[in-house]
Amino acid sequence: MGKTTAVSARHPLRLASDPASVFRPEVRAPGSALVDTFGRVHTNLRVSVTDRCNLRCTYCMPEDVAFLPRAELLTFEEIARVVRVAAGLGVDKVRLTGGEPLVRRELHTLVRMIAAVPGITDLGLTTNGLLLAGRADALFAAGLRRLNVSLDTLDPGRFRELTRRDGLPAVLAGLAAAKRAGFGPIKVNAVAVRGFAEHDIVPLARYCREHGFELRFIEYMPIGADPWERDKVVPADEILDRIGRAVGDLVPAGGDAASPSADYDYADGGGRVGVIASVTRPFCGACNRLRLTADGKVRNCLFALDEADARALLRSGAADADLAALIREAVRAKWAGHGFNAADFVKPDRTMHAIGG
Ligand code: 5AD
Ligand code: SF4
Repeated sequence: MGKTTAVSARHPLRLASDPASVFRPEVRAPGSALVDTFGRVHTNLRVSVTDRCNLRCTYCMPEDVAFLPRAELLTFEEIARVVRVAAGLGVDKVRLTGGEPLVRRELHTLVRMIAAVPGITDLGLTTNGLLLAGRADALFAAGLRRLNVSLDTLDPGRFRELTRRDGLPAVLAGLAAAKRAGFGPIKVNAVAVRGFAEHDIVPLARYCREHGFELRFIEYMPIGADPWERDKVVPADEILDRIGRAVGDLVPAGGDAASPSADYDYADGGGRVGVIASVTRPFCGACNRLRLTADGKVRNCLFALDEADARALLRSGAADADLAALIREAVRAKWAGHGFNAADFVKPDRTMHAIGG
């Protein structure tokens, strides 16, 4: 199998020094094979379909970015095959990401293929929304229901500053089209960067509450092109506090232990707000995620430094059993957590758009 199972834990310190080492593994499902050495069962596959994007968010990628040649991307057939094999190993949840997944032509065809894989019960898409207005109906018809739209500000000038492109009206039209098409839940993902997000937290919360979208704030993580500084992270607690005071009282919603999002409901029933507190409240101990990059590498963590080459196997005529072995080994080699609270943290070479959000 050559160098296809190159995943290895290179950061033993990450075991002890991170709050993420408090493990809350799921109960092992019978027949499920994707269990790591910490007992975490992996049921969730995030599939990046392209590293390209029609925006250039400053926290995600540089302005002048070199994208992968087309031939390096997995075909829809190759992606569907990996999903089928993963489903055979207990994966039941798939999320399509990018880059921007809707820049990949005919994405609804892939949605239909994945929705038809036995065992996949939950299929979602994370998009920047720019092309959504024209695609919402086709995606819905193909079987997609769950949609996350990334949107950090409702101010056109600030949108341009952050994404280096114009596009706010298109994103808002995309959200409206998704609602009309019948998607649910529709979540709005916002990244909270200090010096920027403060102005947008409350307006975004009001907008989402009014339209029935679930707002989810993601703490700023060291995965973009810019140098990351801890001071630039707006902590989840501060976000919740600002929303609670200005928009409406929030009460914990409980919910899914494996979800990275801590959810809160407005006390008056006006909707839900979530925070993904990757920095201030790491949730690695309950992680159930695996990733497939657009060029066919299996990653066991967003912050992994190694990856396993599924594409080489797919293109060498390997059997499903070989692919299954590669995925199993990638999970087995998973480390305890991202460790960006540890002194020895090393940022991966790839930035967010090239890994898949
Ligand atoms: N920190 C946190 N979230 C990020 N995203 C992109 N870069 C970062 C970062 N450095 C988010 C996008 C999108 C999701 C896929 O990942 O805003 O919502
Ligand atoms: Fe594109 Fe998403 Fe990265 Fe922004 S964060 S540049 S929308 S991939």
